Amino acid sequence: MYGMINRVIQDYFMRELDEDGWNEIRSRVPGAESEFVTFEQYPDEMSVALIVAGADVSQRELGAVLEGVGEYFIEYAAAAGYESFLTALGTDVPKILSGLDNMHTRLGMSFTQIQAPSFWCTDVEDGSLTLHYRSERDGLEPLVVGILRGVGKRISKKIVAEKVEDSTIDHSIFHVTFSDENRA
Ligand code: HEM
Repeated sequence: MYGMINRVIQDYFMRELDEDGWNEIRSRVPGAESEFVTFEQYPDEMSVALIVAGADVSQRELGAVLEGVGEYFIEYAAAAGYESFLTALGTDVPKILSGLDNMHTRLGMSFTQIQAPSFWCTDVEDGSLTLHYRSERDGLEPLVVGILRGVGKRISKKIVAEKVEDSTIDHSIFHVTFSDENRA
């Protein structure tokens, strides 16, 4: 994955732990640099190993760490110059989620080798929908849950995604609920 993802992971653990904590994580992952280059590509295994080591060092569940990294990803992206991409998605949750493929395609102008996931919605109702997620990568569902929480935070909405187990389909699905943050 692009170095940007490893930078997000690095910043996340620098904040969650401290520099020593991060150095401990990095020392457990062969080839992990002290500065990841945003537009350079690194093996997916390196990002996974950083998260696994991070969960171990911070003594947290892997899923919870992936969610945390996902949530932080949005804050990072907004601060790293991609705010306009997020703003362009709007504030209507079904519209945001239906616009993600288009947004990643446009990001392909800068991230020319991006292997972006694909998202689409069904069963859209007032406050809930089914989100479909297809990726070339396995096991990143908790990352999606966290990213969606981060997206919600930006627009003062509570977005809760829960993975639905369904062995009859070839991609992942989530039951997503959304409401204004100031409502119960
Ligand atoms: C402006 C904000 C965003 C930027 C700059 C961005 C950029 C990227 C980049 C560079 C990757 C790595 C892909 C690769 O290296 O091939 C990625 C992956 C990913 N993005 Fe985005 N993205 C943004 C917003 C979002 C949002 C809002 C979602 C909503 C769920 C999302 C979901 C994902 C997921 C789940 C992956 C992991 C890869 C996979 O599933 O295969 N991204 N994104």
